[in-house]
Amino acid sequence: MRKIVFATNNQHKLSEVRNILSDDFEIISLKELGFNDDIPETGVTLAENASQKSQFIFEKFQVDCFSDDTGLEVEALNGAPGVYSARYAGEKATYEDNVNKLLFEMKGQTNRKAAFKTVISLILDGKEYLFEGKVEGKIVPVKRGAGGFGYDPVFLPAGFDKTFSEMPPELKNKISHRGKATAKLVDFLQAL
Ligand code: IMP
Repeated sequence: MRKIVFATNNQHKLSEVRNILSDDFEIISLKELGFNDDIPETGVTLAENASQKSQFIFEKFQVDCFSDDTGLEVEALNGAPGVYSARYAGEKATYEDNVNKLLFEMKGQTNRKAAFKTVISLILDGKEYLFEGKVEGKIVPVKRGAGGFGYDPVFLPAGFDKTFSEMPPELKNKISHRGKATAKLVDFLQAL
């Protein structure tokens, strides 16, 4: 089975992507690669950050690899937190801190529209390819559900009555930003 490194330290993402790709690829984590540091992430767009992370690992280890960068864009907040989603409530913010800040900023707001976007940067045989996925939805006023991670308890995808936290992970994976971007990555890899 072909091996590809997923350049992330996020266990939730790793298991999500492993579920999606399990039949076709062996996904190697950074830990398995013996890399335990943080990868620099200084871009101002999702694509720049995704690219920076995969280039970093490629330059260091010369392996096929991919990385993703995700942001939650809220219309009433002019696209915030966007590329700063992980650090919305500060450098050391927890998922809970970020969600609480978002709910605070959205208090009394009638336009609740939001979208998750993911960009994946794949480096294969030294060449880079980008894949994007997006899911539209809205921000609910109180947290709902216990599954998932990050902003999942407050994100209600369009056409569904369950937040990402309330739905089974298989359903989230099918309709999510990362699920869609990963599906494009898989289509590409399978067509090689
Ligand atoms: P990252 O830069 O791709 O790690 O994502 C930035 C931040 O977006 C994370 O710290 C999470 O708070 C949030 N995030 C990313 N993916 C998801 C998801 O699938 N559900 C909820 N929040 C997410």
